[in-house]
Amino acid sequence: MRMKALIVANWKMHPATYKEAKQLFAATKKAAEKAAVTVVIAPPALYLRELAAQYKGKRIGFAAQNAHAGEIGSFTGEVSFGQVRDAKASYVIIGHAERRAMGESDADVGTKVSMSAAEKLTPIICVGENERASDGSYFTRVREQLRMALADVQPPRISQVVIAYEPVWAIGAPRPMSARDMHEMAIFIRKTIVETHGEAGMHTRILYGGAIDDTNAAEMLSQGDVDGLLVGRASHDGAEFARLLASLA
Ligand code: PGA
Repeated sequence: MRMKALIVANWKMHPATYKEAKQLFAATKKAAEKAAVTVVIAPPALYLRELAAQYKGKRIGFAAQNAHAGEIGSFTGEVSFGQVRDAKASYVIIGHAERRAMGESDADVGTKVSMSAAEKLTPIICVGENERASDGSYFTRVREQLRMALADVQPPRISQVVIAYEPVWAIGAPRPMSARDMHEMAIFIRKTIVETHGEAGMHTRILYGGAIDDTNAAEMLSQGDVDGLLVGRASHDGAEFARLLASLA
């Protein structure tokens, strides 16, 4: 049942210039060609089209880091789902914690997931609690985020969405969550999706994100019950990302 692992390189607002982006892309491409995984690069929107146009292979996919929750129109500074598709991305990250911190709501995430379907983009939907209280309330929070994000997803399409569980407290932190805790969360997420969308939910890919690097990626993939990883900092340097991919061999 398991597909090739999906490793998403979330460049966030890096690198500083398009020249450096081309260099980072070249290093990422070289590393991806040797790895038995699918790599998805999410560059800043301004770099997306040109990088995607340069690439002719099949190993790498492209993602937008965000898109606007409305039809094309007067929205200064925004990028539409259709524009993302037109730039040759096939994925879009939705509801990243850094977008939620800027005010994106669970309902916005649901709207964006619907809009991604209309443009035939695979949504990479980020969920995750802000903090871990000992009462287990984080499960309730994650279930609510999933419910709102997937409300308009038709059951047969549920296997096409990607869920990235990113506990907010692990993003940018020195260490990730333990693989054992991820395993528990992955079971919970899968159970929740199967309850709402049926057996096809068994095929929904679940990723982990937050402080992944070459020292912990392999363990998370093999023991965390995940189908891939969402990588921030460790994807912003070509050599570091190459080490990470090599560590999965
Ligand atoms: P990090 O970020 O790998 O730098 O912790 C992960 C993310 O925000 O997707």
